[in-house]
Amino acid sequence: MISFRKAKMSDVENLHRLINDFATKGYMLPRSRNTLYEALREFTIIEDQGMLVGMGALHVIWEDLAEIRALAIKEEYQRRGIGQQLINRLAKEADELEIHQIFALTYQVAFFKKCGFNEVNKDEMPHKIWKECIDCPKFPNCDEVAMAITLVSIK
Ligand SMILES: CC(C)(COP(=O)(O)OP(=O)(O)OC[C@H]1O[C@@H](n2cnc3c(N)ncnc32)[C@H](O)[C@@H]1OP(=O)(O)O)[C@@H](O)C(=O)NCCC(=O)NCCS
Repeated sequence: MISFRKAKMSDVENLHRLINDFATKGYMLPRSRNTLYEALREFTIIEDQGMLVGMGALHVIWEDLAEIRALAIKEEYQRRGIGQQLINRLAKEADELEIHQIFALTYQVAFFKKCGFNEVNKDEMPHKIWKECIDCPKFPNCDEVAMAITLVSIK
């Protein structure tokens, strides 16, 4: 039985392990415990009988823009609609904050398209989105695709 909730301090070790597992596979940036403590309130986690099976974070960038970060579902739970449910939750969170545009830098173009996102030109995104990218091993040769949605179309 899958359930969603906001992350708590006792989730940090499991989050750290899962995110860094996905990072070694090249899906996302690795995270230190420090950054997880600092960003803890951004995270929604997914559990199956108390076991962490996925997570995603909503990071506010600017007045009307937020980024989906560290989104991943454990392999054995993928393709069951859980990722899309998580996107819907993060979109609702953005809407409650009066933020109407969300985006992700991703290799999962087909998934984000299914969730209603469209490809956008990275160069037209605000410069601030590159702040965290400076720490990426690939910087400045980013090969991720920017996918964005205006939230009225997701409701
Ligand atoms: C991307 C990811 C979060 C998708 O989660 P998921 O729970 O498998 O996705 P869902 O089951 O909700 O899929 C929603 C739709 O997208 C489609 N989809 C999902 N992954 C897809 C893929 N890799 N290629 C094509 N379509 C895909 C599904 O078929 C589904 O379409 P449908 O509604 O027509 O059936 C998951 O594959 C993952 O964790 N990948 C590794 C980490 C990663 O790349 N994260 C993204 C960082 S931005």
